[in-house]
Amino acid sequence: MKAKQIRLATRPNGMPTYETFKWTEETVADPAQGEVVLKSLYASVDPYMRGRMNDRKSYVEPYEVGEVIAGGVIAEVVMTNSTQFEVGDIVIGNLGWATHQIAHEDSLRKIDPSKGPLTNHLGILGMPGITAYFGLLDIGKPAAGETVVVSGAAGAVGTVVGQIAKIVGAKVVGIAGTEEKISYLKHELQFDEVVNYKSENFQEELKAACADGVDVYYDNVGGTVSDAVLRLINKYARIPVCGQIALYNLEKPDLGVRVQPNLLVNSALMKGFIVSDYGAHFEEAITDLAKWLKEGKLQSKETVLEGFEKLPEAFLGLFKGDNIGKYLVKIAEPSE
Ligand SMILES: NC(=O)c1ccc[n+]([C@@H]2O[C@H](COP(=O)([O-])OP(=O)(O)OC[C@H]3O[C@@H](n4cnc5c(N)ncnc54)[C@H](OP(=O)(O)O)[C@@H]3O)[C@@H](O)[C@H]2O)c1
Repeated sequence: MKAKQIRLATRPNGMPTYETFKWTEETVADPAQGEVVLKSLYASVDPYMRGRMNDRKSYVEPYEVGEVIAGGVIAEVVMTNSTQFEVGDIVIGNLGWATHQIAHEDSLRKIDPSKGPLTNHLGILGMPGITAYFGLLDIGKPAAGETVVVSGAAGAVGTVVGQIAKIVGAKVVGIAGTEEKISYLKHELQFDEVVNYKSENFQEELKAACADGVDVYYDNVGGTVSDAVLRLINKYARIPVCGQIALYNLEKPDLGVRVQPNLLVNSALMKGFIVSDYGAHFEEAITDLAKWLKEGKLQSKETVLEGFEKLPEAFLGLFKGDNIGKYLVKIAEPSE
């Protein structure tokens, strides 16, 4: 069986481009004991993958130049030499950007398709949803009536953060970069206020939106957006630091403002976290998220491009704001 792969061609300096990737075609071997052959159905593009393109120590290993790009993938078992998986099983794992590939049974988890749309397992019921859940509830700890600000509000994590904050009874202020996103957050997700960080009067508009100050700031982007929010924090504010996408493609470090005096005088807590810190508790998050989805208290939003060859376009699009909700690429239909 022939398969296509997308590999890291070269380490980007600054913003990645199409030249960051290269395509190959190889034959997939027969699976050894404990292995299966997979057909990829959906692949996730995620901002953290940009960090893996640097040759720098982080919480995940860098990709090697020439290596197949790996990320969250939903796939179907098409050949098996494993006692754990049958042909036709739908699985999820940290897998390669490849149309077909071999994987070891230990690296896969079976998905129950009756739990809802497959794609939700890469989005609201997967890594981004779980990240939103723990960052907000365990670190942000919002109370009813408090003001929660979320940046990257229209993205995979941000849409879930804002909706959970509404469930808790908080006032939700979203920050996003296009009018389409602002309209979606206001009218579909019922965020209380939404501000465009690209507006010339961003700081004033944000201040007006946060009339009672900021009790929780869920930081997905960092940079000048976060500088603006931090000027508005209240006493005992909580600031879960989830992502810093505004900084991922900088060619030189950005020193920004020093935040400690502001944290000090407000007795505020700022805490970074990685979703895997909560690995032992993922099922608790998935159970609550699935329940809220079923009850209609949460909505899932996804932007899906069709075709394996669209993976680089989708990945690059994360840094241009092309997506609303979880950004995915559909690679193939499941077999009948
Ligand atoms: N800590 C963890 O374990 C963990 C887990 C998952 C994700 N994260 C982080 O959480 C953040 C959100 O991830 P996601 O998967 O939900 O991505 P996402 O929000 O679905 O997609 C990225 C969005 O970021 C915004 N953006 C891009 N460049 C920006 C810039 N320079 N300044 C401000 N906004 C910018 C764009 O929206 P606009 O149109 O609004 O600009 C874009 O649509 C990322 O920083 C990611 O690294 C962390």
